[in-house]
Amino acid sequence: MTDANMKSIRFHQHGEPADVLRLEDVSVPSPGPGHVAVRVHACGLNPADWAICRGMSYRGLPCGIGLDVSGVVTAVGHGVDDVAVGDEVFGPANFMDYPTAGASEYAILSHWDALPTGLSHVDAAALPMVIETAARYLDWTGLRAGQTILVNGAGTMVGFAAVQMAIARGARVIATAGKTFADVLRSFGAVVTPHGEGVIERVRALVSETPDIVLDAAPANLRPDFVSALPDLVEIAGGDPNHVITIADAEGAKRTGVRTGAESIAAEGGFKLRWDAIGTYGQMAAEGSFSIPVAQTFALADWREALGVSLAGGAQGKLILLPRG
Ligand SMILES: NC(=O)c1ccc[n+]([C@@H]2O[C@H](COP(=O)([O-])OP(=O)(O)OC[C@H]3O[C@@H](n4cnc5c(N)ncnc54)[C@H](OP(=O)(O)O)[C@@H]3O)[C@@H](O)[C@H]2O)c1
Repeated sequence: MTDANMKSIRFHQHGEPADVLRLEDVSVPSPGPGHVAVRVHACGLNPADWAICRGMSYRGLPCGIGLDVSGVVTAVGHGVDDVAVGDEVFGPANFMDYPTAGASEYAILSHWDALPTGLSHVDAAALPMVIETAARYLDWTGLRAGQTILVNGAGTMVGFAAVQMAIARGARVIATAGKTFADVLRSFGAVVTPHGEGVIERVRALVSETPDIVLDAAPANLRPDFVSALPDLVEIAGGDPNHVITIADAEGAKRTGVRTGAESIAAEGGFKLRWDAIGTYGQMAAEGSFSIPVAQTFALADWREALGVSLAGGAQGKLILLPRG
């Protein structure tokens, strides 16, 4: 039976997440048409959560955080016929239409996939956002088999996913990453070197060809002292900013002319999210042919600890909240 009230992390005014986020007692949301409610077993955190606190989204206030959810269906909205109460599902939390999101005891999903057999709720909650983002940006690059792609920031989970997807597409992959995932990325088949100062020389010492595409996944929006890699990445791409696309460095893109995806959204006639990729890669994760590492899990009440790890820029895998303790 669903409770009437629940614990949820949300904010009532925009600002720094540590200042504005609160763990509150709120009403359990009811799913609207086409949506389902789930009892949240695990919720993946993303840098986007902090960007939303700072005012990135048009969602009114109060607003919840926690965009990746895995849990058990507790209620279905009108018109939902492919899932029933008691089913295990995972997917992105709908934070736009409701005043709470996934960092809660219950959440609403408007896109979901059945939890694949063999995949835990914790591992499933690591997947939706990074799969959707990596699949979308790779599509926007137009990457083809036989091309070379450099993924800058492959120690981010979007970058880590993009490396695996690009290799699956038949591309040669050069990756920049810190120590934590360098060997794992090599085991996927990527050529790996550290990101940061000196990256142009390091990449040129490793490979003779100019990459056809550079995908920048560095987490530009976590820290105010972030140094843009885009000037170096344009040079690695042979000087043409059209061969470079960044996932988060909007300011650097303005200065360098690097692509952000906005041009692809315009060309596609709107923002088309790749929810369809989540089920495919979720199944692959269950079978062991795709992976997104979980760095740490936290009780809902310990969200500040997770926030500190994320904002320090060293998540080194997904940070997952466990609302059921
Ligand atoms: N546009 C979109 O639709 C969209 C969607 C999702 C995410 N994003 C953005 O994409 C970025 C990545 O997200 P995420 O969830 O994958 O991040 P994440 O996993 O939280 O990234 C943390 C990792 O970033 C690496 N890192 C830290 N500083 C770096 C630097 N200067 N250069 C390269 N890597 C660095 C660290 O790994 P190492 O040990 O390797 O240094 C760290 O473990 C974020 O800025 C996020 O907001 C955008």
